[in-house]
Amino acid sequence: MIHFLFPRDSADPHRPDEIFADQWAALTEAGFSASLCSDATLAGTKPLRDVPAGCRVVYRGWTLKREEYESLVRVIEQCGATAFTQTKEYLLTHHLPNWYPLIPDLTPETRVYPVEADLVAELQGLGWGAYFIKDYVKSLKTARGAIVREPSEVTSLIAEMREYRGEIEGGICVRRFEEFVPASEKRYFVLRGVASAAEGLTVPNVVKLCAERIHSDFFSVDVARRQDGAVRVVEVGDGQVSDLVGWSATAFAKMWLRATG
Ligand SMILES: Nc1ncnc2c1ncn2[C@@H]1O[C@H](COP(=O)(O)OP(=O)(O)O)[C@@H](O)[C@H]1O
Ligand SMILES: [Mg+2]
Repeated sequence: MIHFLFPRDSADPHRPDEIFADQWAALTEAGFSASLCSDATLAGTKPLRDVPAGCRVVYRGWTLKREEYESLVRVIEQCGATAFTQTKEYLLTHHLPNWYPLIPDLTPETRVYPVEADLVAELQGLGWGAYFIKDYVKSLKTARGAIVREPSEVTSLIAEMREYRGEIEGGICVRRFEEFVPASEKRYFVLRGVASAAEGLTVPNVVKLCAERIHSDFFSVDVARRQDGAVRVVEVGDGQVSDLVGWSATAFAKMWLRATG
C-alpha cells in the first residue's frame, strides 16, 4: 500500500503546509492514505507517527539534503514501513553528476568540479563561450543569473551562490550554454518506468529515453526546446521534491492511481 507523507503547517499541526494542500486533497480523495510530519522529524530529531506498518511511503515536500533524506528513510523504517524511494535512487536523480552520465546526449554538456577548484582556469580551458553554473542541485536565482560569459566572472557568481544558498551542495557543475526558447520548458514525471505529461501535453521521446535509462521509480524530467528546434533535457529531479509545475493536483493523483491500481 502507498502512503503519502507531507510537511505539516507550522501554524496548524493538523493540516499540511499550504503549498501542498491541493495535493493532499487530491491524493486523499483518490483513496490514498496520507499523514503529516513535523520539521523536527525531517531534521531527524523526532520519530515519525501515523505511518501504517507495511506501507511504502512517498514523501511530498521540500528538497532534502543527503543526510536529511537518509534520516527520513530511517524514521520511516522505524514505523515498520519502507521508503518508496531509497536514498541511492533519491541521490541518483537529485544530484546532477549522478544522472548526467546516463543521458549525456540529451542534455547540455557538463563538467563537475570540487568547490575548491580553480574555476577561472577550468572555464578558460573549456573555451565554450558561455557557461551555465550550478551546484549538484540548484542554480543561482538572483538577478545576476547563473550564466557566465567571461571566465573571470565565475568567482563572484560562486560567492553569491554561497551567500544565497547558504552552502554549495556537493560541488560545482559547469554546463555548456544552450539557447532555449523562452517558456518552452515543461515538466514530466516518470513513475515506475512510465512517463507522464500534464493535461494537454504529450510525452517527448527524450523523456521516454530517460525512463529507460534512469533507474529510479519516481523522478521528474524538465524538457525545453532549443532555438534550433532540438528537444533537450534541462534537468532531472527526484519526483518527491519536484513541484507540480504545470500539473494540476488531480492529474498528479491520477498518475499515482494508474501506477498503483
Ligand atoms: N545549459 C544551459 N544553458 C542555458 N540555459 C540553461 C542551461 N541550463 C539551464 N538553463 C536555464 O536555467 C533554468 C534553471 O536551470 P536548472 O538546471 O533547471 O536549475 P534549477 O535547479 O535551479 O531549476 C532552466 O529552467 C533553463 O531555463
Ligand atoms: Mg530547474
